[in-house]
Formats: sequence, structure tokens, C-alpha cells
Amino acid sequence: MSTTPLLVDRLIDDRRTRIIVCCGSGGVGKTTIAAAIGLRAAERGRRVVVLTVDPARRLAQSLGLTSLDNTPRPVAGIRAEGAGSMHAMMLDMKRTFDEIVESHADPDRAAQILANPFYQSLSSSFAGTQEYMAMEKLGQLRRADEWDLIVVDTPPSRSALDFLDAPQRLGRFLDGRLLRLLVAPARLGGRTGFRMLNAGFGVVTGAVTKIIGSQLLRDVQTFVSAMDTMFGGFRERAEYTYRLLRAPGTAFLVIAAPEHDALREASYFVERLEREEMPLAGLILNRVHRSPAARLSAARSLAAAEALQGLDDGESTWLGITALRLHADRMHQAESERRLARRFTAAHPLVPMTQVPAQPDDVHDLNGLRVIGASFAADKPPG
Ligand SMILES: Nc1ncnc2c1ncn2[C@@H]1O[C@H](COP(=O)(O)OP(=O)(O)O)[C@@H](O)[C@H]1O
Ligand SMILES: [Mg+2]
Repeated sequence: MSTTPLLVDRLIDDRRTRIIVCCGSGGVGKTTIAAAIGLRAAERGRRVVVLTVDPARRLAQSLGLTSLDNTPRPVAGIRAEGAGSMHAMMLDMKRTFDEIVESHADPDRAAQILANPFYQSLSSSFAGTQEYMAMEKLGQLRRADEWDLIVVDTPPSRSALDFLDAPQRLGRFLDGRLLRLLVAPARLGGRTGFRMLNAGFGVVTGAVTKIIGSQLLRDVQTFVSAMDTMFGGFRERAEYTYRLLRAPGTAFLVIAAPEHDALREASYFVERLEREEMPLAGLILNRVHRSPAARLSAARSLAAAEALQGLDDGESTWLGITALRLHADRMHQAESERRLARRFTAAHPLVPMTQVPAQPDDVHDLNGLRVIGASFAADKPPG
């Protein structure tokens, strides 16, 4: 089965590409690949901003992300062609949420919401908030129109689905029936015509109070009343971002490691993107192992080790045996990775794929990112 190659360079050189979203399960290299793509695109002449979510500390430092201030900062040390430039930012989820509130409510009301304990817990712990805020920030960056390419790293969600669900989920949550019921007594109170209704809600509220406690309920009610005027704004923004994600200038890249679990997650993700009609550009298989001495098979390597074992027990013999065995291991691993990749391709024959070799060390500086980026060159030998 032959794979369609994923031409990342063609994607980043195409001026129509405005947004690249890197997604996949945790630990596969999303943040690294997003930064490498951003750097390569900048060095090839594009004005890039990379939105990272959880960069490792040393990578963050080399991107100049020393403070978490939620605004893009220029990255020093890039060797850009033409007008190329690179900014990077680290998502501060709580700060982004606060910014939405501040931009949708007058200052007094905003202060009231920000101080509300329910808001504070929602904004920092509601499942999916991080995904939603990443999307919100993406919308903001796109509207700012200062960059011609936005590369988005995504949160390390346990379930990759959270990410796509987030905009609607938060919208649903805030529009949710429970909240409407909770807030109803506060809104209807005092209007005699609604006395009956009010009594009905009182019963509901009573039951809810038992479950969540009266102080919390009051917090929720104040919060929701205060947020009421913002509902429309939230929904509109979520819908704007959702449309942005499906627009022709957007490309989704699914990142996976050549491991069983990561590829299973990748399959799931690819299917979900297809179902949502999101513009999937392809799969990047990251941390692929390949041996420069691939002509020596694992079997022959092991046979040679065996033969050496019979010779003598000098140090160089021992080293030779160790090297041959390591080589055999490496070849077995490469074979199993190829098998997994083939299986993925068989299941998704139309999804273009490219591979990024495993580096001997973690990737934490611009040079490391350049090495990763070099595997996106269109003329590299087929993997
Ligand atoms: N091709 C690669 N070779 C070697 N190490 C890599 C490679 N890609 C990523 N890494 C390392 O793997 C770790 C996880 O990568 P990261 O990008 O943070 O993953 P994710 O964002 O998907 O959780 C980091 O330490 C990173 O330096
Ligand atoms: Mg990450």
C-alpha cells in the first residue's frame, strides 16, 4: 500500500494557508512540531505566530517565552528570508477567560464576575476550558490580522475529542438548562405575575441547594445573572471560531508517534475530523526510528553476535556483540513502526503522511527545531 506523501513545505509556502492546527494525543510531539513548523515557515518568509499550550521549560525559554502574559512575543535568533518573522505565545487559560469577560461586560459587571468564586473555579477547572480558551485565543489572533500564518498547538487532552467539542460544550454549558433554572428565581423574583412559576422554580432550587449547598448556589446565581448579557457573545465567538476551523485556509495536522496507542488515537481523531468536515491535511508520524545501517538485517546481526560470542571474551569482542544486539533491537523497532504505519495507511488510504525521525535528544532550541523542520523539505528521500 503506497501512502500519499504529506508535503508540509508546500502547505506552509502556500500563502492561502492561514491556520495550522497540530493535534493528537499527549506526549507525541504536538508542541515540538508546532514550534518547528512555525520556525520553518518564518524562515521561509512568512509572518508567523505560534500559539503554544504547554511547552517544556527549555523549549519555552529558547522561544523567549519566559513570562506567561498571554500576548505574542517576538522570537529572537531566527534567520528569516524576506519579510519572515516569528512570534510565540504561551496560552494562559485563566487570563484568556478574564479577557473575554472584560471585553463583553462593562467594568463594574466585569469586576463582579471576575471576583465571583463560581467564575474562578469555572475559569480554571471546568473540563474543556483549556481547549475552549485555545480556540478563543486563536480567534483573537486571527482577528488581530497581524500574522499571515497562525500555528496552533493543542492542549494535552486525554481524549482528543475534547478539543473539537470545546466550543459547543462551553456554549452548551453556559446556556444549559440547569443554569437557566438556577438563575430563574433571581430574575423572576418580585414579579407577581410569575408567583406560580417562581414557586415551581423554588422547588427546583431547593433540590439543587441540597446538592450543591446554598452559598455555592448563590454564587452560581450571581454569576449567571452577571453573565446573562454575555451569553450571546460567547456563543457567537464559539461559532466564529468553529467556522474559522472549517474554513479553506485552515489545515489540521494530526501528530502521532509510531506506537500502537498513539496511532489508535490518531485514527480516532482523523475520523472525527472527517466527520466534522474539518480540513485535515494529513498525519505526521513523529519520532520514527531508522537505522543508517539498515542493510544489515536484525537476523544477520544477531547471527553475527552469536558467532562472535564463541570467539574470545576480550573487551572489543564484547563491544562488538553489544553493538550488534543494539542494532538488531533497532531494526526490530523500525520494522514494528513500519508495520503500524502500514496498518494506519490501510485504514486511511487517503490521508497523506510524512515522518519525522527520532532525535537522539529532546528538542529544546531553535537548532533542534530546524533539524525537525528539515524533515519537511519536499525533496527529502522518501521515508
Ligand atoms: N522527533 C523527536 N525526537 C526526539 N524527541 C522529540 C521529538 N519530538 C518531540 N520530542 C520530545 O518529546 C517530548 C514531548 O514532546 P512535546 O512536543 O512536548 O509533546 P506534546 O506537546 O505532544 O505533549 C519533548 O521532550 C520533546 O523534546
Ligand atoms: Mg504539548
